[in-house]
Amino acid sequence: MNITNIAVLVSGRGSNLQSIIDNIENGTIPHASVKVVISDVDGTYALERAKQHGIEAVFVDPGTFDNKEGFENAILLILAAHDIELVLLAGYMRVVGPTLLTPYKGRMINIHPALLPSFPGLHGQQQAYDHGVKVSGCTVHFVEEGVDTGPIIIQHCVLVLENDTVDMLADRILEQEHRIFPEAVRLFVQGKLSIEGRKVRITD
Ligand code: GAR
Repeated sequence: MNITNIAVLVSGRGSNLQSIIDNIENGTIPHASVKVVISDVDGTYALERAKQHGIEAVFVDPGTFDNKEGFENAILLILAAHDIELVLLAGYMRVVGPTLLTPYKGRMINIHPALLPSFPGLHGQQQAYDHGVKVSGCTVHFVEEGVDTGPIIIQHCVLVLENDTVDMLADRILEQEHRIFPEAVRLFVQGKLSIEGRKVRITD
């Protein structure tokens, strides 16, 4: 079976990146390899994690381009150089534009720390907590043009407890992110996902 070449886009500490790397290394995600990790922020711990696993780690500085198109074209060149088939957004804090999305439509997956379509965008955990919901969670979905609007692959719910702080809630959500993101990647790599309109069919 062919190896699926994966790129991971990050902006921060990279705990979700780590969960993908670990699940590939322990064989839970078979026939896949993270070829490159790209950060839009310099010096992130996610880049460090990549290096620790012998994965190419690249900082692409958005400040050196005239516009988003230029920035995303630079990323596309890196993806092409590594023959990337699947792009994961693991705490990547930018909205992906058409330059990058179009060639990877149906092959770009994001993890979000809330039950979409509620609380899209930044600080999903905080938004849910402030709203006073009793149940929140996390969502893995294909990326499309809107912010966190793409077809949903897996969701997991997390109860909000009476004495929770937002950090306690975010920690429990993160634990589930580290479970469902690798699971979705496994399903993709094994060809078990198909998109039908808004629905993602899983044949596992
Ligand atoms: C994760 O909670 C992820 O769901 C969130 O950023 C965090 C990154 O943590 N993503 C978003 O909010 C995207 N809208 P990590 O760097 O430790 O994986």
